Amino acid sequence: MGGSKEEVAVAEGNPLQQVESAREAFEREFERFARFIVPGNDTTGLSLKDAEAEQRAIAELRTKHLGKKSAIAAAKKLIGKVPADERALFGQSVQEAEAQISESVAQVEKGLKARIESARIERDSLDVTIPGRRARPGHLHPITLMRQRIEDIFVSLGYAVEDDREIETDFYNFDALNIPEGHPARDPQDTFYTTQGFALRSQTSTVQIHAMQRRGAPVRMIAPGRVFRRDTPDPTHNPMFYQVEGLCVDRGITMAHLKGTLAEFVHRLFGPDTKTRFRPSYFPFTEPSAEVDYSCFNCGGEGCRICKWSGWIELGGSGMVHPNVLRAANIDPEEFTGFAFGLGIDRTCARIYQLDDIRLLFENDVRFLEQFR
Ligand code: FA5
Repeated sequence: MGGSKEEVAVAEGNPLQQVESAREAFEREFERFARFIVPGNDTTGLSLKDAEAEQRAIAELRTKHLGKKSAIAAAKKLIGKVPADERALFGQSVQEAEAQISESVAQVEKGLKARIESARIERDSLDVTIPGRRARPGHLHPITLMRQRIEDIFVSLGYAVEDDREIETDFYNFDALNIPEGHPARDPQDTFYTTQGFALRSQTSTVQIHAMQRRGAPVRMIAPGRVFRRDTPDPTHNPMFYQVEGLCVDRGITMAHLKGTLAEFVHRLFGPDTKTRFRPSYFPFTEPSAEVDYSCFNCGGEGCRICKWSGWIELGGSGMVHPNVLRAANIDPEEFTGFAFGLGIDRTCARIYQLDDIRLLFENDVRFLEQFR
């Protein structure tokens, strides 16, 4: 011994003893982790959360016993300061302690890592035996179902189906339909206007003009679609509803063709015993004009709740195409005549499904709609 003051101090502290105490301190704290050592790793009962917590704990233990502020780190700094003849032994013992701590920690980390990996696989794995959640497929809206039934009937009678625009000019919504500006017939069909002189169509009759311009005569078409009116909602009115327009223009078409066509239509829709009734009416674009009713599909005309005890249900408007309308579409009224009709889908649908209020068809409440699967 002897030498510098520092060497004496170190010697007095008994460096070997310090290393031994550091090793023992580590062992005491390490004891609880020993069961995680590979082989013999006993981590099977550990949840993923617990295994991750243990992983953090063992990392802290390593820092505590091998980190910069650890007793081992302090001992390493002493290696160069112990007397030369003790240095080799001391150095060796520090290295051994460090290697042992490091190896023990590494073994535990290995065991925990394996557990964490397998726990994650368990968590993320797909159990194909768990019953699946049933997908809820959508279904068609009752208005669509109704529209398709109507289309099928008219297609089988040789009618084309036209789809046309919902935003119109005054010309198609009114003028071409023989409703000039200031005409009182514009009032009940007041609609929603845009700032550029366009308006949402208030009836599908606009498609009569488009179809005749596009196809010329003869023409046989129906045009189902949405229409808009400034009607206050109530059980029989919506501001947006659906109509089906029908148009047949050819040589020699008469009112008899109109009656026969609509009679055949209601037979196919409601059954062969269904009767039709034509009441004189007025539409500027047809002359003569008629409202069409059909005998109640429920009571056959006796009177019941569905037909409001009248025996009849309204189908829509109809008539012979006015010569001015044919002219507006560049068709010669001397050569061609035609009939047209416009049916309200919402009200027909409401009658068939016995709905007291057509607003149900517009509100999109799934509890209501799901009944039509
Ligand atoms: C017309 O709209 C004419 N374009 C029908 C027509 C076509 C006549 C071709 C002649 C030739 P009307 O305004 O009556 O007619 O409407 C026809 C149908 O639409 C009515 O029978 C009714 O079923 C339905 N309807 C009218 N207003 C509403 C509304 N606010 N809500 C729901 N349905 C309506």
